Amino acid sequence: MSVKAVLGCMYGDEAKAKMVDFLAEDADIVVRFQGGSNAGHTIRHQGKKYVLHLIPAGILYPGKVCVIGSGVVVNPLELLAEMGDLEAKGIDFSGRFFIDPRTAVILRWHKQLDQMGEKELGKARIGTTGKGIGPGYADAVSRVGIRFADLAHPEYLEQRLHLLARFHEIDESEVRLVKKELLAAAEKLNQYIVQVPYLLSEARGEGKNILFEGAQGTLLDVIFGTYPYVTSSHVSAGGIAAGSGMNPGSIDQIIGVFKSYYTRVGEGPFPTELNNETGEMIRQQGNEFGATTGRPRRCGWFDAVSSRYSVILNGVTCGALTLLDVLSGFEVVKICIAYNIRGERVTEFPAHIEDFKDLEPEYIELPGWYDDISKIRDYEDLPEAAKQYIRTIEDLLSIRMKYISVGAERNQTILRD
Ligand code: IMO
Ligand code: MG
Repeated sequence: MSVKAVLGCMYGDEAKAKMVDFLAEDADIVVRFQGGSNAGHTIRHQGKKYVLHLIPAGILYPGKVCVIGSGVVVNPLELLAEMGDLEAKGIDFSGRFFIDPRTAVILRWHKQLDQMGEKELGKARIGTTGKGIGPGYADAVSRVGIRFADLAHPEYLEQRLHLLARFHEIDESEVRLVKKELLAAAEKLNQYIVQVPYLLSEARGEGKNILFEGAQGTLLDVIFGTYPYVTSSHVSAGGIAAGSGMNPGSIDQIIGVFKSYYTRVGEGPFPTELNNETGEMIRQQGNEFGATTGRPRRCGWFDAVSSRYSVILNGVTCGALTLLDVLSGFEVVKICIAYNIRGERVTEFPAHIEDFKDLEPEYIELPGWYDDISKIRDYEDLPEAAKQYIRTIEDLLSIRMKYISVGAERNQTILRD
């Protein structure tokens, strides 16, 4: 029996889904606990590409149970569309897909509010995915939100929609349309509503293996990230219990996922960003374009300062280093070990975005490698320079990289004992 979590330790897009897909083989249940359709989780399996936003990556394995916990925010129409796409590819949901009744419902209004908010912020915009995530969480916390449980109570739902429309000064004539949309979706989704805390507790009692699938990354956490350039959920390990109902004491292993270099989409501080040919080369070699919005991702060197912060916050028990194959072809590779901020050498991740201004990263340089490593499955077969790069990161973060990913396919993974 094991309860594991796979968590992104950077600014998202760490290839978490690839790791979840790899680890799901041994899991009975895969659980999402935060975020929403802002996530873009790409999985390549047997030459086919799947992009998931709301549905846990375990869905590709027939028979595995997939769960959306109460900390996720879900637009029921988007969920049905995503389910429809997967069903068309032969994936079956019946009896193995569940949503907690406490899960917050994202409405068309939230999407509009998200996009209007960004417009209003102008130059100070966050660069959100525009999926309504921030306004959805805000309504939930403001205690005016709609939850999946409301969909089974049409009269109550209508009252709450009127309240919400007034709260946001939205024309109340829209309530009818939104209610109709929700009830139509509810007809199809009601069969999947299950109290997730009980489901998880029973599964644990039966000795099942449970795998939590993180979305986004620790540096985008609403509290611990580069506020206000963050997402609106509790991304770090603390969010697992809060967003699923699984008690924190039962989580055995936290697998921190680190890319071999850094990327970020949207605005906000990025100390090791490379606005040059090297950054462009990483973007091209890593195909660093957003899975949800198609935006080119900002690229840069590995930042051990922020990664160490993520290790501390999450209590990472072992690491997965992903996309190592992308780093082939550089004469030198660099790792940032400290920030120099206006004359001061800093090794703690700053709590204020103003402290990222006039920041100079302090790098160590290591020899690069030119070999194609995508077919290597044994750690010892990696080029010496790649091994040195991995060892250096392990030493800096005080964790062991148990998994090294050298390609998008499930089997392009080096597993170390
Ligand atoms: P996965 O799960 C990378 C970023 C957005 C923006 C900020 C806030 O694929 O790793 P939001 O729409 O959440 O209010 O946007 O967070 N962001 C992500 N960046 N990967 C993600 O998910 C992200 N989800 C949100 O670009 O900067
Ligand atoms: Mg992604």
